[in-house]
Amino acid sequence: MKTQHSIHYGKEGLLTLASHIKMRGYSSLFVLTDTHTAHHCFDRFVNETGLTSLNVLTMTAGEEHKNIKTCETLWHELSSLGADRNSALINLGGGVVTDLGGFVACTFKRGIDFYNVPTSLLAMVDASVGGKTGIDFGPLKNQIGIIQEPVKVIIDSHWLQTLPYVELRSGFSEMLKHGLIADKAYWNTLQSLTTLSPNALAPYIERSVELKKDVVLEDPTEKHLRKILNYGHTLGHAIESYYLHHPSQKRLLHGEAIAIGMITEAYLSVAYCGMSKKEAQEIKQAFDRWFPKIEISSGDENEIFALLRHDKKNKGQAIRFVLLHQIGQPKIDIEVTSEHISEAFQFYADLS
Ligand SMILES: NC(=O)c1ccc[n+]([C@@H]2O[C@H](COP(=O)([O-])OP(=O)(O)OC[C@H]3O[C@@H](n4cnc5c(N)ncnc54)[C@H](O)[C@@H]3O)[C@@H](O)[C@H]2O)c1
Ligand SMILES: [Zn+2]
Repeated sequence: MKTQHSIHYGKEGLLTLASHIKMRGYSSLFVLTDTHTAHHCFDRFVNETGLTSLNVLTMTAGEEHKNIKTCETLWHELSSLGADRNSALINLGGGVVTDLGGFVACTFKRGIDFYNVPTSLLAMVDASVGGKTGIDFGPLKNQIGIIQEPVKVIIDSHWLQTLPYVELRSGFSEMLKHGLIADKAYWNTLQSLTTLSPNALAPYIERSVELKKDVVLEDPTEKHLRKILNYGHTLGHAIESYYLHHPSQKRLLHGEAIAIGMITEAYLSVAYCGMSKKEAQEIKQAFDRWFPKIEISSGDENEIFALLRHDKKNKGQAIRFVLLHQIGQPKIDIEVTSEHISEAFQFYADLS
């Protein structure tokens, strides 16, 4: 497993990337951006790394483009620009770019080297680390993919300067999750923040990466421990998919959807894992402080429930969750009934 030695930070990290790439002597180099990171990040990437002869590939920004069509376009472009097995791809963007770019790289000519340079907070603390690559398929998120580590990940918080506030907040949601599943003290520290800004959050990025890395090193292919990273994601992914595919509905960002997932799953943690009501309330309030409340009707709830059944973590018909015994103490593979899921939505709806 390469994780331990492959993450570098800051401007020096970008220089390390540049010298490593020069040393590797790739036959050609590709950079995948989306339409936003092409504008906000690409020039700085070139200036900081000094890399030349880069072929730029640009996908349209947004989760709705994290699909096989975009992959096809990129495979075509790689082919027509002469990419071969000794080419490499640098993913410069948020989690959509690192997930999809990783998948494109892993599948092109049975796999070429790829590097992640995450530019959103969410990609820095979560998506770019741990080797999960993939795309959405039909109404379901991350259905097609491969687990493959990038050669290196370069995390430079400077990119956050141009990231919209709501995207920053979305990444913060995953940082809170890291506290919930692994480190109560870290959770408490994040509670003490009074503002969410790049400068306020930058000092904590490395801690979140460490927490995720430790879990992934222990269980790279998600047989047991890695499942804890899915806290809030069983309901969160179903909620995210539902809002993604209903154009009449408000769009929810990943971090916004899993914020609802973490509140509802806190309720389930009380019902199934002995979490105290006080801690569940604390979790609810922590997210309520930063995230707007979404009205989820009973019709929405039914459709979300149908999506939940497709969740890849389920074996047979039972819906299995990662829940918390206490903040910082997760439990995996807990079967939950549909009645309790309805009550969990009620717990969320009762948010004052
Ligand atoms: N592989 C994993 O382990 C893993 C973990 C968590 C999430 N994910 C995936 O990550 C995705 C979400 O990631 P995301 O929130 O980064 O979404 P994203 O890639 O869509 O980025 C969010 C938005 O911010 C823009 N952006 C990114 N960096 C910017 C910058 N520096 N300045 C200005 N704009 C910038 C993007 O163009 C986009 O519009 C989801 O698809 C989710 O499934 C994967
Ligand atoms: Zn997530």
